[in-house]
Amino acid sequence: MDSGEISLSDREFEAVRNKVYDLAGISMSDAKRTLVVSRLSKIIRRLNLDTFTAYLDHLDRNGSADEVQEFINALTTNLTRFFREDHHFDHLNDYIGGIVNDPANPNKSRLRLWSAGCSTGQEPYTIALSLLAAHPKLKTWDFKILATDIDTNVVEKAKTGVYKAGDLSGLSPERVKLFDRDGAGNVRIPDHARSIVTFKSLNLMEAWPMRGPFDAIFCRNVAIYFNKPTQEKMFTRMGELLKPNAFLYIGHSENLNSVADKFKLVGKTVYQNKLGASARSAA
Ligand SMILES: C[S@@+](CC[C@H](N)C(=O)[O-])C[C@H]1O[C@@H](n2cnc3c(N)ncnc32)[C@H](O)[C@@H]1O
Repeated sequence: MDSGEISLSDREFEAVRNKVYDLAGISMSDAKRTLVVSRLSKIIRRLNLDTFTAYLDHLDRNGSADEVQEFINALTTNLTRFFREDHHFDHLNDYIGGIVNDPANPNKSRLRLWSAGCSTGQEPYTIALSLLAAHPKLKTWDFKILATDIDTNVVEKAKTGVYKAGDLSGLSPERVKLFDRDGAGNVRIPDHARSIVTFKSLNLMEAWPMRGPFDAIFCRNVAIYFNKPTQEKMFTRMGELLKPNAFLYIGHSENLNSVADKFKLVGKTVYQNKLGASARSAA
């Protein structure tokens, strides 16, 4: 154990697990024990406390909203990258192409997408960049992407639209060309893409202020942190916010479990909504 690390008893680990589940719906396996110690020890020391029990008592009795948020932020896993699971973006491009090029489209030049659990922004920016490149007409559309995450740190980072050059490694030259560079060699999301993405912090376990309907929802590699009942409840709510026949994209290791009958599987982890919210008002 690192000298700065605080020891974590089984009982304390259980208490941390219960708390992150109650606050964020996150179900932590035993394998997360090391992560809990390394991420929370720093916070505990900064608060001048010396045990997990004292820290949890502090959060329960007089922890501020910021301290509770810091606890959540510390325990999320934010791994992401541009064009992750990239066949989803090909599917989305084809689907949106059908809407954009349909002379009789009922959308009236309006498009609403949601990236739920967007982490540091690579997913919604990939959606924006690839759709704007494939369908230049969208520049004149009322086209918006809502991007949300429970972790307020990643939301702030995402808003900057600035990334390290290395974050593009592995992308084809064509894809790399979609990004701008600044004087310091950083990658910048071009303004035309950045301006259509709105970032907000949102806990998927709580009430959702937006009413939809959405043309597509990306909720990828988020449900893996939830137990099955929590996943099913969340995917059902997403179905209610999607237009009929619109698409839900989930992570490659995820599935819809018992709510799969509300959707039609049309590709690898691409689901088409059978139900929907066509009559709802704007997002
Ligand atoms: C592994 S990242 C996935 C990022 C991106 N969707 C992708 O596939 O590359 C999972 C994200 O889900 C977020 N998350 C976890 N629990 C959440 C909750 N209850 N509400 C909203 N976001 C949550 C985490 O903060 C994290 O940024």
